Amino acid sequence: MIVTIDGPAGAGKSSIAHQVAARLGFEFLDTGAMYRAATLSVMRAQLDVGDPDGLAQHVRELEIRWENHRVFLGNEDVSEAIRSTEVTRSIRHLADVPAVRQQLSHLQRQIAAGRDIVTEGRDQGAEVFPDAHCKVFLTASPEERARRRQRQMADSGKYVSFEDVLAAQNQRDLEDRMRDVGRLRAAKDAVIVQSDGMSADEVLEAILQIVRKCQ
Ligand code: C5P
Repeated sequence: MIVTIDGPAGAGKSSIAHQVAARLGFEFLDTGAMYRAATLSVMRAQLDVGDPDGLAQHVRELEIRWENHRVFLGNEDVSEAIRSTEVTRSIRHLADVPAVRQQLSHLQRQIAAGRDIVTEGRDQGAEVFPDAHCKVFLTASPEERARRRQRQMADSGKYVSFEDVLAAQNQRDLEDRMRDVGRLRAAKDAVIVQSDGMSADEVLEAILQIVRKCQ
């Protein structure tokens, strides 16, 4: 069974998808981590981000692995390195290239093949797994998402103003919604969870209920 959870940045998809998978005894796939790992590799290789063919060629030669909720480039665990602001800012160069998306989508389908899995990203329900059994689109207002993100950053000792968090998030939303292939959108058959005012536990229960109905 495939469960897709898509939605904009800061909607809490990763932690919720992770918990949904744990509660169901399913595998979990964070597809954003794959885009991040490919971006880190491109940055390290100092490639020209304006050359889509060069980027696609580089990604074709990469060995991106997803194991035990960690992402690897070859044998190197890059799960922490991919979370830097520089990587976050540069992802769009890769995520906008259709040939790169094709390769990562192929890898995502390979990972999911024959498994019970919760897969989380932007395009999982609408493009990568159009026949998934259960599709959720998890969202919240930009202000609510930015507030959560700011709190999360403060908890890890990083103070950024609400306005700055909101501005960066609006920019990412715009980039994620505007790309030609793989843009952020709810699949026609996705159930939309608008999580403003809901606690993380309430969101988890709401999604588990949606999944139970699909089973
Ligand atoms: O989910 P996360 O914030 O880690 O994703 C990082 C970026 O990777 C997103 O902003 C988006 O541009 C890209 N992405 C994507 N397709 C996915 C997952 C992530 O384009 N399935």
